[in-house]
Amino acid sequence: MSTGSLPAIFRLDEAVSAAVARHNAVWQARWERFLAMNPPPRWNPSLPVDAEWRMRYEICLPVAEYVGSLRRLARLVLPHPSWIPLALGTTIAHLAPRTGFPSLPDFWSYLPLEWWGRVTLTVAELPALLAALADPPQFGTAAGRYPNQLALLREQHWTEPVTVLDVGCGTGEGTGEVVALLREMGCQASGIGVTREPLEAWMGSTGCFPHRSSATPPTGVRFVVGEAEALPVIGPFAVVLCNGLIGGRFVQTEAAFRRILGEFARVLARGGIVLVGCRFHAGREAALAQFRQLAAATGWQVAGDCRDLVLGRLGGKV
Ligand SMILES: C[S@@+](CC[C@H](N)C(=O)[O-])C[C@H]1O[C@@H](n2cnc3c(N)ncnc32)[C@H](O)[C@@H]1O
Repeated sequence: MSTGSLPAIFRLDEAVSAAVARHNAVWQARWERFLAMNPPPRWNPSLPVDAEWRMRYEICLPVAEYVGSLRRLARLVLPHPSWIPLALGTTIAHLAPRTGFPSLPDFWSYLPLEWWGRVTLTVAELPALLAALADPPQFGTAAGRYPNQLALLREQHWTEPVTVLDVGCGTGEGTGEVVALLREMGCQASGIGVTREPLEAWMGSTGCFPHRSSATPPTGVRFVVGEAEALPVIGPFAVVLCNGLIGGRFVQTEAAFRRILGEFARVLARGGIVLVGCRFHAGREAALAQFRQLAAATGWQVAGDCRDLVLGRLGGKV
């Protein structure tokens, strides 16, 4: 997308140009020092980021400072501090979940390949960078990733209008897919996607993706910014989706699981279902099993395996 057609949510004025010039001057000088001190080979995306690479990059290009510099640019460009992608938060341990000590290659690994090996940027590139940080490739929010959920929904008989709640909806492709399926089945369906990233909610509702091809926004879906642990909705919802959230890096503790299960119970319609899926890499099984056990112990009827859970309230028809 050309920046000329970007809506006014991104402020790209002279103050931003001056701030980008300052950022580039600092980081270009540091980059040149890094290149002088580190003859090839250098890190590239086909290599794992290990302690040796982290040390070499951190000495010249400390990632916490780099992220801090981008955060200041984001503050100038975006409508409100709450819009700054969480990836630019003041704690950046999530960039290297295993060690908690990230480096610039960890930051590049989070982004689409075109950002690898770069520390400077242009004003026109800022919307795409911020959008990519809010909607990184690893979120992989494309439709078609939870076929078991679609099969299960296809088996139900929908007689009443249905509102689907999608908790941690990303940019809403999955929400739109489920609403479209229910509509194809003759059900009067609509959806609400909840995410804590305002830029995701904006991209989902406008279909405007500065970092990838634009798309038609999903029909019948609206987006609300909010937390899974304190949902900004009342309900009741006959279908609650929660994919790619539970047991992932955002929601791992038993306390968070309890609060989220409490929120599901609060908003779920009598006889409704909660579908909890994930496509995480191996290594999340213990957390997923813990969530499943906790649900079973707190009044939920549980079916499916840990990566494809189906929850209903005991006493309610599933
Ligand atoms: C891995 S993506 C999954 C997106 C989508 N559900 C899917 O599976 O295709 C995780 C999503 O949850 C959102 N998220 C993370 N923590 C959250 C929280 N505490 N409350 C609400 N949304 C959250 C992220 O911004 C992102 O939209």
